[in-house]
Amino acid sequence: MRVFVTGVNGQLGHDVMNELARRGIEAVGSGIEPEYVGIMDGSPVCTMPYVGLDLTNEEEARRILTEEKIDCLIHCAAWTAVDDAEDPEKRDFVFRINGEVPGSLAKVMKDLKGKMLYLSTDYVFSGEGTKPWEEEERDFHPINVYGASKLAGEEAIRKVLPEHFIVRIAWVFGLNGKNFIKTMLQVGKKHPSVRVVSDQVGSPTYTLDLARLLVDMVETEKYGTYHATNEGEYISWYDFTKAIYEEAGLSTEVIPVTTEEYGLSRARRPFNSRLSKEKLKREGFQGLPHWKDALKRYLQALEAE
Ligand SMILES: NC(=O)c1ccc[n+]([C@@H]2O[C@H](COP(=O)([O-])OP(=O)(O)OC[C@H]3O[C@@H](n4cnc5c(N)ncnc54)[C@H](OP(=O)(O)O)[C@@H]3O)[C@@H](O)[C@H]2O)c1
Repeated sequence: MRVFVTGVNGQLGHDVMNELARRGIEAVGSGIEPEYVGIMDGSPVCTMPYVGLDLTNEEEARRILTEEKIDCLIHCAAWTAVDDAEDPEKRDFVFRINGEVPGSLAKVMKDLKGKMLYLSTDYVFSGEGTKPWEEEERDFHPINVYGASKLAGEEAIRKVLPEHFIVRIAWVFGLNGKNFIKTMLQVGKKHPSVRVVSDQVGSPTYTLDLARLLVDMVETEKYGTYHATNEGEYISWYDFTKAIYEEAGLSTEVIPVTTEEYGLSRARRPFNSRLSKEKLKREGFQGLPHWKDALKRYLQALEAE
Protein backbone atom coordinates (compact mmCIF):
# COMPACT_ATOMS: atom_id res chain seq x y z
CA MET A 1 0.00 0.00 0.00
CA ARG A 2 1.22 3.50 -0.88
CA VAL A 3 -0.72 6.18 0.99
CA PHE A 4 -1.25 9.87 0.26
CA VAL A 5 -2.28 12.04 3.22
CA THR A 6 -3.72 15.54 2.78
CA GLY A 7 -3.68 18.22 5.49
CA VAL A 8 -0.45 17.12 7.18
CA ASN A 9 0.17 20.66 8.46
CA GLY A 10 -3.05 20.30 10.47
CA GLN A 11 -3.92 18.39 13.64
CA LEU A 12 -5.00 15.02 12.31
CA GLY A 13 -2.87 14.78 9.16
CA HIS A 14 0.24 15.22 11.29
CA ASP A 15 -0.59 12.25 13.50
CA VAL A 16 -1.73 10.08 10.59
CA MET A 17 1.68 10.57 8.92
CA ASN A 18 3.43 9.69 12.16
CA GLU A 19 1.35 6.55 12.55
CA LEU A 20 2.10 5.43 8.98
CA ALA A 21 5.81 6.11 9.52
CA ARG A 22 5.81 4.13 12.77
CA ARG A 23 4.31 1.14 10.95
CA GLY A 24 6.75 1.43 8.07
CA ILE A 25 3.97 2.07 5.52
CA GLU A 26 5.06 4.10 2.48
CA ALA A 27 3.34 7.47 2.52
CA VAL A 28 3.48 10.94 1.00
CA GLY A 29 2.10 13.91 2.92
CA SER A 30 0.71 17.10 1.44
CA GLY A 31 -0.37 20.56 2.50
CA ILE A 32 -1.15 23.83 0.83
CA GLU A 33 2.19 25.29 1.95
CA PRO A 34 5.24 24.64 -0.30
CA GLU A 35 7.15 23.15 2.67
CA TYR A 36 6.01 21.21 5.75
CA VAL A 37 5.17 23.80 8.45
CA GLY A 38 3.85 21.58 11.25
CA ILE A 39 5.56 21.01 14.58
CA MET A 40 9.15 19.88 14.33
CA ASP A 41 9.12 17.72 17.44
CA GLY A 42 11.50 15.12 16.10
CA SER A 43 8.61 12.81 15.20
CA PRO A 44 8.90 10.84 11.94
CA VAL A 45 6.46 13.09 10.02
CA CYS A 46 9.33 15.55 9.45
CA THR A 47 11.33 12.96 7.55
CA MET A 48 8.46 11.68 5.39
CA PRO A 49 8.11 12.87 1.78
CA TYR A 50 6.01 16.04 1.47
CA VAL A 51 4.47 17.86 -1.51
CA GLY A 52 2.89 21.31 -1.58
CA LEU A 53 -0.52 20.98 -3.22
CA ASP A 54 -3.54 23.27 -3.30
CA LEU A 55 -6.31 20.71 -3.53
CA THR A 56 -8.57 23.05 -5.48
CA ASN A 57 -6.12 22.51 -8.36
CA GLU A 58 -7.73 19.26 -9.51
CA GLU A 59 -5.40 18.61 -12.44
CA GLU A 60 -2.35 18.96 -10.24
CA ALA A 61 -3.88 16.65 -7.63
CA ARG A 62 -4.59 14.03 -10.29
CA ARG A 63 -1.07 14.32 -11.70
CA ILE A 64 0.61 13.94 -8.30
CA LEU A 65 -1.55 11.03 -7.10
CA THR A 66 -0.97 9.24 -10.41
CA GLU A 67 2.79 9.86 -10.57
CA GLU A 68 3.20 8.85 -6.93
CA LYS A 69 1.34 5.57 -7.71
CA ILE A 70 -1.04 6.10 -4.78
CA ASP A 71 -3.56 3.37 -3.97
CA CYS A 72 -4.89 4.78 -0.69
CA LEU A 73 -5.86 8.37 0.07
CA ILE A 74 -6.46 9.63 3.62
CA HIS A 75 -8.10 13.01 3.12
CA CYS A 76 -7.62 15.10 6.30
CA ALA A 77 -7.52 18.57 4.68
CA ALA A 78 -10.61 20.74 4.92
CA TRP A 79 -11.88 24.21 5.63
CA THR A 80 -12.31 23.89 9.41
CA ALA A 81 -13.00 27.50 10.48
CA VAL A 82 -16.66 26.93 11.38
CA ASP A 83 -17.63 30.55 12.16
CA ASP A 84 -15.76 32.04 9.18
CA ALA A 85 -17.61 29.63 6.91
CA GLU A 86 -20.80 31.62 7.64
CA ASP A 87 -19.37 34.66 5.83
CA PRO A 88 -21.55 34.90 2.67
CA GLU A 89 -18.46 35.78 0.61
CA LYS A 90 -16.66 32.60 1.71
CA ARG A 91 -19.57 30.20 1.33
CA ASP A 92 -18.81 29.16 -2.28
CA PHE A 93 -15.15 28.59 -1.47
CA VAL A 94 -16.00 26.49 1.60
CA PHE A 95 -18.30 24.32 -0.53
CA ARG A 96 -15.57 24.06 -3.15
CA ILE A 97 -12.98 22.71 -0.65
CA ASN A 98 -15.25 20.65 1.59
CA GLY A 99 -17.99 19.67 -0.85
CA GLU A 100 -16.46 19.35 -4.33
CA VAL A 101 -12.77 18.53 -3.81
CA PRO A 102 -13.56 15.22 -2.01
CA GLY A 103 -15.63 14.14 -5.05
CA SER A 104 -12.88 14.99 -7.51
CA LEU A 105 -10.30 13.15 -5.38
CA ALA A 106 -12.66 10.15 -5.23
CA LYS A 107 -12.78 10.12 -9.07
CA VAL A 108 -8.98 10.04 -9.18
CA MET A 109 -8.87 7.17 -6.68
CA LYS A 110 -11.48 5.30 -8.73
CA ASP A 111 -9.30 5.65 -11.85
CA LEU A 112 -6.27 4.51 -9.83
CA LYS A 113 -8.31 1.54 -8.50
CA GLY A 114 -7.56 2.66 -4.96
CA LYS A 115 -9.43 3.38 -1.73
CA MET A 116 -10.15 6.63 0.08
CA LEU A 117 -10.81 7.63 3.67
CA TYR A 118 -12.67 10.91 4.29
CA LEU A 119 -13.08 12.64 7.64
CA SER A 120 -16.53 14.01 8.32
CA THR A 121 -18.25 15.48 11.32
CA ASP A 122 -21.12 15.33 13.81
CA TYR A 123 -22.14 18.70 12.25
CA VAL A 124 -23.83 16.86 9.37
CA PHE A 125 -26.70 16.24 11.83
CA SER A 126 -29.23 18.73 13.19
CA GLY A 127 -28.12 18.33 16.81
CA GLU A 128 -31.71 17.81 17.95
CA GLY A 129 -32.79 15.32 20.62
CA THR A 130 -30.57 13.33 22.94
CA LYS A 131 -30.27 9.98 21.14
CA PRO A 132 -26.82 9.12 19.77
CA TRP A 133 -26.70 9.48 15.96
CA GLU A 134 -26.30 6.16 14.22
CA GLU A 135 -23.88 5.62 11.37
CA GLU A 136 -26.62 4.79 8.87
CA GLU A 137 -28.89 7.71 9.85
CA ARG A 138 -29.79 9.64 6.68
CA ASP A 139 -31.90 12.44 8.21
CA PHE A 140 -29.06 14.97 8.21
CA HIS A 141 -30.23 18.61 8.35
CA PRO A 142 -26.92 20.36 9.10
CA ILE A 143 -27.46 23.70 10.84
CA ASN A 144 -24.42 25.60 9.59
CA VAL A 145 -22.44 26.08 6.37
CA TYR A 146 -19.48 23.98 7.53
CA GLY A 147 -21.78 21.01 8.33
CA ALA A 148 -23.61 21.34 5.00
CA SER A 149 -20.32 21.52 3.08
CA LYS A 150 -18.89 18.43 4.82
CA LEU A 151 -22.13 16.54 4.08
CA ALA A 152 -21.79 17.53 0.40
CA GLY A 153 -18.28 16.01 0.53
CA GLU A 154 -19.66 12.74 1.95
CA GLU A 155 -22.33 12.54 -0.74
CA ALA A 156 -19.91 13.30 -3.55
CA ILE A 157 -17.67 10.41 -2.46
CA ARG A 158 -20.55 7.95 -2.00
CA LYS A 159 -21.68 8.64 -5.57
CA VAL A 160 -18.31 7.92 -7.15
CA LEU A 161 -16.27 5.44 -5.13
CA PRO A 162 -17.67 2.36 -3.34
CA GLU A 163 -14.22 1.69 -1.86
CA HIS A 164 -14.53 4.49 0.70
CA PHE A 165 -14.41 4.95 4.44
CA ILE A 166 -16.30 7.98 5.76
CA VAL A 167 -15.38 8.56 9.40
CA ARG A 168 -17.36 11.14 11.37
CA ILE A 169 -15.45 12.58 14.29
CA ALA A 170 -16.09 15.41 16.78
CA TRP A 171 -14.38 17.83 19.17
CA VAL A 172 -10.92 17.11 17.78
CA PHE A 173 -7.70 17.85 19.64
CA GLY A 174 -4.12 17.20 18.59
CA LEU A 175 -0.68 18.64 19.22
CA ASN A 176 -0.32 20.22 15.79
CA GLY A 177 -2.82 23.08 15.74
CA LYS A 178 -5.37 25.09 17.66
CA ASN A 179 -8.16 23.42 19.60
CA PHE A 180 -10.53 23.81 22.55
CA ILE A 181 -8.10 22.43 25.16
CA LYS A 182 -5.30 24.82 24.19
CA THR A 183 -7.73 27.76 24.28
CA MET A 184 -9.13 26.80 27.68
CA LEU A 185 -5.64 26.37 29.15
CA GLN A 186 -4.69 29.88 27.98
CA VAL A 187 -7.93 31.38 29.33
CA GLY A 188 -7.65 29.47 32.61
CA LYS A 189 -4.14 30.74 33.26
CA LYS A 190 -5.26 34.38 32.79
CA HIS A 191 -8.72 34.55 34.36
CA PRO A 192 -10.14 33.44 37.74
CA SER A 193 -13.35 32.13 36.16
CA VAL A 194 -14.69 31.09 32.78
CA ARG A 195 -18.24 30.60 31.43
CA VAL A 196 -18.70 27.46 29.36
CA VAL A 197 -21.80 26.01 27.68
CA SER A 198 -23.32 23.02 29.39
CA ASP A 199 -26.11 22.18 26.93
CA GLN A 200 -23.99 21.00 23.99
CA VAL A 201 -23.09 17.36 24.53
CA GLY A 202 -20.70 15.05 22.70
CA SER A 203 -17.31 13.31 22.93
CA PRO A 204 -13.75 14.52 22.34
CA THR A 205 -11.40 12.87 19.84
CA TYR A 206 -7.61 12.75 20.33
CA THR A 207 -5.91 12.71 16.91
CA LEU A 208 -3.14 10.42 18.16
CA ASP A 209 -5.68 7.71 19.06
CA LEU A 210 -7.77 8.32 15.96
CA ALA A 211 -4.74 8.04 13.65
CA ARG A 212 -4.13 4.48 14.89
CA LEU A 213 -7.72 3.50 14.09
CA LEU A 214 -7.67 5.16 10.66
CA VAL A 215 -4.56 3.27 9.63
CA ASP A 216 -6.10 0.03 10.98
CA MET A 217 -9.13 0.78 8.81
CA VAL A 218 -7.37 1.44 5.52
CA GLU A 219 -5.52 -1.85 5.92
CA THR A 220 -8.93 -3.57 5.50
CA GLU A 221 -11.70 -3.62 2.89
CA LYS A 222 -14.42 -2.99 5.51
CA TYR A 223 -15.77 0.04 3.63
CA GLY A 224 -18.61 2.25 4.81
CA THR A 225 -19.56 5.07 7.16
CA TYR A 226 -18.24 5.02 10.72
CA HIS A 227 -18.23 7.20 13.82
CA ALA A 228 -15.07 7.46 15.90
CA THR A 229 -14.42 9.47 19.06
CA ASN A 230 -12.73 8.60 22.34
CA GLU A 231 -14.73 6.22 24.54
CA GLY A 232 -16.40 7.15 27.84
CA GLU A 233 -19.60 8.89 28.85
CA TYR A 234 -20.94 11.74 26.68
CA ILE A 235 -20.05 15.11 28.19
CA SER A 236 -20.77 18.81 27.75
CA TRP A 237 -18.13 21.44 26.99
CA TYR A 238 -18.58 22.50 30.64
CA ASP A 239 -17.78 18.97 31.87
CA PHE A 240 -14.80 18.82 29.55
CA THR A 241 -13.43 22.16 30.79
CA LYS A 242 -13.74 21.03 34.42
CA ALA A 243 -11.78 17.88 33.58
CA ILE A 244 -9.12 19.86 31.68
CA TYR A 245 -8.53 22.20 34.63
CA GLU A 246 -8.55 19.37 37.15
CA GLU A 247 -5.98 17.41 35.14
CA ALA A 248 -3.85 20.51 34.53
CA GLY A 249 -3.97 21.51 38.21
CA LEU A 250 -5.69 24.86 37.52
CA SER A 251 -8.12 26.24 40.09
CA THR A 252 -10.06 28.40 37.58
CA GLU A 253 -13.79 28.39 38.38
CA VAL A 254 -15.96 26.98 35.59
CA ILE A 255 -19.45 28.48 35.39
CA PRO A 256 -22.02 26.50 33.39
CA VAL A 257 -24.18 28.55 31.00
CA THR A 258 -26.71 27.68 28.33
CA THR A 259 -25.94 28.36 24.68
CA GLU A 260 -28.55 31.13 24.84
CA GLU A 261 -26.92 32.73 27.87
CA TYR A 262 -23.48 32.44 26.29
CA GLY A 263 -24.66 34.47 23.30
CA LEU A 264 -24.78 33.79 19.62
CA SER A 265 -21.74 32.65 17.69
CA ARG A 266 -21.77 33.23 13.94
CA ALA A 267 -22.37 29.56 13.21
CA ARG A 268 -25.09 27.69 15.09
CA ARG A 269 -23.72 24.72 17.04
CA PRO A 270 -25.53 21.38 17.51
CA PHE A 271 -26.77 20.57 21.03
CA ASN A 272 -26.63 16.83 20.46
CA SER A 273 -23.28 15.65 19.09
CA ARG A 274 -23.57 12.16 20.59
CA LEU A 275 -22.19 9.71 18.02
CA SER A 276 -22.95 6.00 18.28
CA LYS A 277 -19.82 3.94 17.66
CA GLU A 278 -21.55 0.55 17.40
CA LYS A 279 -20.38 -0.08 13.84
CA LEU A 280 -16.72 0.06 14.85
CA LYS A 281 -17.40 -2.75 17.33
CA ARG A 282 -19.55 -4.73 14.89
CA GLU A 283 -16.77 -4.63 12.29
CA GLY A 284 -14.15 -5.71 14.82
CA PHE A 285 -12.15 -2.48 15.04
CA GLN A 286 -10.45 -1.56 18.29
CA GLY A 287 -12.10 1.62 19.59
CA LEU A 288 -10.29 4.62 21.06
CA PRO A 289 -9.36 4.77 24.76
CA HIS A 290 -11.49 6.67 27.30
CA TRP A 291 -11.44 10.45 26.78
CA LYS A 292 -10.07 10.98 30.33
CA ASP A 293 -7.08 8.81 29.51
CA ALA A 294 -6.64 10.68 26.20
CA LEU A 295 -6.80 14.05 27.97
CA LYS A 296 -4.17 12.96 30.49
CA ARG A 297 -1.77 11.79 27.78
CA TYR A 298 -2.42 14.90 25.70
CA LEU A 299 -1.62 17.28 28.56
CA GLN A 300 1.57 15.33 29.27
CA ALA A 301 2.55 15.59 25.59
CA LEU A 302 1.84 19.35 25.58
CA GLU A 303 4.00 19.73 28.66
CA ALA A 304 6.86 17.83 27.03
CA GLU A 305 6.82 20.07 23.93
N1 LIG B 1 -11.29 20.02 14.28
C1 LIG B 1 -12.45 19.44 14.62
O1 LIG B 1 -12.97 19.63 15.74
C2 LIG B 1 -13.13 18.51 13.66
C3 LIG B 1 -14.37 17.94 14.02
C4 LIG B 1 -14.99 17.07 13.14
C5 LIG B 1 -14.40 16.76 11.92
N2 LIG B 1 -13.21 17.33 11.59
C6 LIG B 1 -12.61 17.00 10.28
O2 LIG B 1 -11.40 16.31 10.51
C7 LIG B 1 -10.44 16.62 9.49
C8 LIG B 1 -9.14 17.05 10.14
O3 LIG B 1 -9.39 18.17 11.00
P1 LIG B 1 -8.19 18.97 11.68
O4 LIG B 1 -8.71 19.51 12.97
O5 LIG B 1 -6.97 18.15 11.64
O6 LIG B 1 -8.06 20.21 10.66
P2 LIG B 1 -6.95 21.35 10.60
O7 LIG B 1 -6.02 21.23 11.74
O8 LIG B 1 -7.67 22.65 10.35
O9 LIG B 1 -6.17 20.95 9.27
C9 LIG B 1 -6.77 21.06 8.00
C10 LIG B 1 -5.67 21.30 6.99
O10 LIG B 1 -6.25 21.40 5.68
C11 LIG B 1 -5.49 22.33 4.95
N3 LIG B 1 -6.19 22.87 3.80
C12 LIG B 1 -7.26 23.67 3.78
N4 LIG B 1 -7.57 23.98 2.51
C13 LIG B 1 -6.70 23.36 1.71
C14 LIG B 1 -6.48 23.31 0.30
N5 LIG B 1 -7.25 23.96 -0.57
N6 LIG B 1 -5.45 22.57 -0.17
C15 LIG B 1 -4.63 21.91 0.68
N7 LIG B 1 -4.77 21.92 2.01
C16 LIG B 1 -5.79 22.65 2.53
C17 LIG B 1 -5.23 23.42 5.98
O11 LIG B 1 -4.17 24.25 5.58
P3 LIG B 1 -4.13 25.79 6.09
O12 LIG B 1 -4.27 25.75 7.57
O13 LIG B 1 -2.79 26.26 5.62
O14 LIG B 1 -5.29 26.43 5.41
C18 LIG B 1 -4.91 22.62 7.23
O15 LIG B 1 -3.53 22.34 7.34
C19 LIG B 1 -11.12 17.66 8.60
O16 LIG B 1 -11.67 17.00 7.49
C20 LIG B 1 -12.24 18.22 9.46
O17 LIG B 1 -13.32 18.70 8.68
C21 LIG B 1 -12.55 18.18 12.43
